[in-house]
Parts: sequence; structure tokens; C-alpha cells
Amino acid sequence: MPGVEVRVEGLTKSFGRANIWSDVTLTLPPGEVSVLLGPSGTGKSVFLKSLIGLLKPEKGSIVIHDTDLVRCSENRLYEIRKLFGVLFQDGALFGSMNLYDNIAFPLREHTKKSESEIRDIVAEKMDMVGLKGDEKKLPGEISGGMRKRAGLARALVLDPEIILFDEPDSGLDPVRTAYLNQLIIDLNAQTDATFLIVTHDINTAQTVPDNIGMLYRKHLAMFGPREVLLTSEDPVVAQFLNGRRQGPIGMSEEKDTAQAAREMAEVDELSGLPPIKPQLDATAGLPERKAVARRQKRVAEMMHTLPPAAQEAIRRSQAESGQAAQQPARQQAAGAAPYGRPDAPPADAPTQSIPRVQDAPLGQPTPPQNLQHNPPQNPTGRAPGGPSSGPGRHRFR
Ligand SMILES: Nc1ncnc2c1ncn2[C@@H]1O[C@H](COP(=O)(O)OP(=O)(O)OP(=O)(O)O)[C@@H](O)[C@H]1O
Ligand SMILES: [Mg+2]
Repeated sequence: MPGVEVRVEGLTKSFGRANIWSDVTLTLPPGEVSVLLGPSGTGKSVFLKSLIGLLKPEKGSIVIHDTDLVRCSENRLYEIRKLFGVLFQDGALFGSMNLYDNIAFPLREHTKKSESEIRDIVAEKMDMVGLKGDEKKLPGEISGGMRKRAGLARALVLDPEIILFDEPDSGLDPVRTAYLNQLIIDLNAQTDATFLIVTHDINTAQTVPDNIGMLYRKHLAMFGPREVLLTSEDPVVAQFLNGRRQGPIGMSEEKDTAQAAREMAEVDELSGLPPIKPQLDATAGLPERKAVARRQKRVAEMMHTLPPAAQEAIRRSQAESGQAAQQPARQQAAGAAPYGRPDAPPADAPTQSIPRVQDAPLGQPTPPQNLQHNPPQNPTGRAPGGPSSGPGRHRFR
């Protein structure tokens, strides 16, 4: 089933008198993968919980299939929630249930499937996340990374149309994180679901999403196509996406303005932005990601509104993907096998488990206002934008 659009407008959330974020406006394009970044404590988890109606923002709207989740009835909210697969930051497994029962839970709760159908689905998802053989273990008996993967399997059992992952990679070793990133792209190719992933992993942010957003200082600093943020010289965005110590973001979120300005001058002297990394492709043998063509059309329509460095990066990556498409067999990155499996399937292998999407029609083009830019205060006084030092050079192979 094709993913659905999620339209968020003017969303504001506070707990008592403590405002978490205000006036957040963004559209998650149907079937695309988006990543949400931001320093710790900026309200990323609160945002995900608001999207599924677990928390009620006091202002604004979240529209899915013409329903505003902020205002709809409890019954309608219950129905809409079935569209979601969610991995909470802490895994949120039931401590007294073994992994099998934890993963089977949404199927028993929300479907009328027989136990034998449930067994097949659970086995397939556990295999997918590399937990085959661990069915009887209790959450307390396994590692944090395994709990995370069990949460991931549980998020997928209902074949959701909208997938929210809150730091799926925290607590995973780098190899498993690489597998997980590939799994996200592969799942997207197989399901055409709409993804929103919160991560602190820079490599994930650089190589997985179609779109990136960033929360900072109680606002959505920016949301748009990956190339816009990856080539942005906005001090906050550039510092975060390049994992620099120098910049406006400090350990306690904001630094002294004079110190930040000194550091930014240092960065200017050191280097510009590094070239942007190519986005991961779906593993050979899987269907092409349908989001790619839709996104190309969408980005072309908004091209004239984008900064020159982003335009250049988009043209370059399109030219490179055109060249790649002409090559007979696409090679995959080393280690880019489905998560938990040692080898990628051969190119002619049947697609696993998750049902293929049968040629869904192209979605309605999303109007260009999907690029959100609310520049945070700029303590360095440097103008955002400006030349980039050479975007993406090669495909990920
Ligand atoms: N239920 C709640 N009641 C009151 N305050 C809350 C609640 N949930 C979250 N907060 C507060 O909201 C703020 C944002 O929390 P959130 O967990 O969304 O941050 P985050 O961006 O996900 O951080 P991290 O990257 O560390 O996970 C924090 O100050 C937190 O204390
Ligand atoms: Mg969080």
C-alpha cells in the first residue's frame, strides 16, 4: 500500500508552562524517508508521540487522510493509529512477555488473524531483524541492541503505512547500524510506507533520508530535501550534520555567543563543507523505491526556490543516478545485506515477506512550500547559503 502524506501545521506543544516547540510546520511526503535531527532535549520524541496522538499539542494540526489528529474523536484516532508502526526510543517492550508474545501483540490486539498466521508473520519479522531463535527470551535477558531490534520487529508486524522510529540505531554497533540503514531503505522499497526517523547518527542522516528536518531552540530550524540541509552553511545545521564541536550548539544546547563566533571563524579557516555522501539504494533484487520518481518530480517543481548549492547537488545526484541506471547490474555497498542476514539475495531472488506495491499511481505533487526554513538566530553574523565545496561525487557502491 502506498505511504500516506502527513501534514503538520503550526504545531505547538508545552508541558504546563514549559514550551517544547512552537509553530512546527512540515509535510512528510508520501512514501519518502525523512529524518528528524536535533540536540538532545529539543523535543524530537515529543514530536513523534504527538504525531500518533499520544500527546496533545495545544495549537496547530496534524492531518492524515483528511483527519486532523489534534481534534478528532478517540474512535477515529484509534483507527488512524493502525496506520502507524512505531519504535519508541526505549523499545517499550512488555517486561513479562517473551519476545515472541511482544512482537505478536499488535496482531492479537488489532487483527483477527489465526495463531498460525501470526506465527508466520512473527517468524518473518524476527528473522528480518536478526532475532531468529530468541523467541522465548524475556526483554530483561537480552542486550539493549536486541531489545531495540525486537521493538523494530513489533513496529513492522501490521505492515504500517507510516513508520516512526525513535533512534533505532542507538545502542547498536556500527555494523548493525549499517545493516539497519540498508533495512530502512529496503523496507521503503518494498512497502512504499512514509518514514520518519529520529537519529543522532550522522552517517544515517547523510545516507538514508530523502528529507531532513532539524529541531533547534524550540522551533523547526529547517525541513526539506536532503541536499538542502547537507549543503547548508547555516551554522547550526552545518555543525550538527558534520558532527563538529565548533559552532553554536554546545553541551547544554546553546553556547556563549562570543565563543560560538570565534569557533565559526576557526571552521571557516579550516574547511568548507565536505562533499555530500550519496544516498543508499535498495538492495539488488528488490523493487526500485517508488519514492525516488515521485521525489524527483516534487523537487523539480521546487527547484527554483532552493539555494544554488542545493540545486547543484540535486543535479549532480540525478546525473549520477541516471548513469547508474544504465549499468546492467547495480552493485551494493559492502555489508549492505538485509539486516541480520549475512548476504544480499541474488538479483533474481523473489522479494521476501513484505507485499510488493503494485505500480501505485504517482502521488499528487506536493507544492513547494514543503521547504521550511526558519533560520535560528545567527550568532556569527555570517550569511547562510553561499558556495558549497562540491556536493556528492560518487554513488554508494
Ligand atoms: N510527559 C512529559 N511531561 C513533561 N515533560 C516532558 C514529557 N515528555 C517530555 N518532556 C520534556 O520535553 C522535553 C523534550 O523531550 P524529548 O524526550 O522529546 O527530547 P528529545 O529531543 O527526544 O531528546 P533525546 O535526543 O535526548 O532523546 C524535555 O525537556 C523533557 O523533559
Ligand atoms: Mg528522544
